[in-house]
Amino acid sequence: MTGVFIIGGAGGVGRRLGPILAAGGKGVAAMARRPEQLEPQRASGVTPVTGDLLGLDAAGLSALMTGCDTVVFSAGAGGKGGPEMTRAVDGDGLEKAVSAAKGAGIRRFLLVSVFPDALRGQPAPNDRFELYMQVKRKADVHLADSGLDWVILRPGTLTDQPGTGKVRAGAAVPYGEVSRDNVATVLAEIVATPGLNRRIIEVTDGDTPAAQAVGALVN
Ligand SMILES: NC(=O)c1ccc[n+]([C@@H]2O[C@H](COP(=O)([O-])OP(=O)(O)OC[C@H]3O[C@@H](n4cnc5c(N)ncnc54)[C@H](OP(=O)(O)O)[C@@H]3O)[C@@H](O)[C@H]2O)c1
Repeated sequence: MTGVFIIGGAGGVGRRLGPILAAGGKGVAAMARRPEQLEPQRASGVTPVTGDLLGLDAAGLSALMTGCDTVVFSAGAGGKGGPEMTRAVDGDGLEKAVSAAKGAGIRRFLLVSVFPDALRGQPAPNDRFELYMQVKRKADVHLADSGLDWVILRPGTLTDQPGTGKVRAGAAVPYGEVSRDNVATVLAEIVATPGLNRRIIEVTDGDTPAAQAVGALVN
């Protein structure tokens, strides 16, 4: 299929993104570890793919992606499984996905990363959070150095508030919250803007319609 391959397809952002893309006419394959996680999206036109970043090697993941033109990586260990799982999923998993995309001949790769200032105002960020930030940063560096047509999206702290469709997005914006709905909407706009590449975009909830905010980032 042509279209978008979402890694983390059943996650908070990924499961919102698939139906938006499908409604816009894109082919969408969403990967999750258990097939039943993707059943709710099937009716929206999303093709479920079962896959585990830990169990697959790059060639196996590449085979699942073959035929797509864009990868969105929105997977993450979410703090479960300790530092080793953060390294394995958010870190090594991203590197494996980059290698897999190259193997499948896919040029465009969108990564949901993290806002560098996240939780910096708190009195004592713990070691686990510092490790998470380090792994995410290393993943950003790896993708930026990949030679692919990449976009790194750095959302502020994610919420499950209903999406407003309005955001603040740019190379550097003040730290804040952003709803997963709005992140998915921004990702869909980036998918629909193929000329927007090799950019790091910070995003929070804001006042600008997502399409306008993303359009303003195109040189
Ligand atoms: N929380 C925040 O405030 C925040 C802020 C900025 C950025 N982020 C980042 O934004 C991204 C998306 O966030 P989110 O809320 O959508 O996260 P989420 O709901 O935890 O979704 C992450 C997805 O990754 C999947 N995953 C974990 N291990 C996997 C593996 N081995 N193979 C395949 N898939 C695997 C999970 O699958 P299961 O459902 O099977 O567990 C889950 O569906 C994450 O990378 C997160 O680190 C988070």
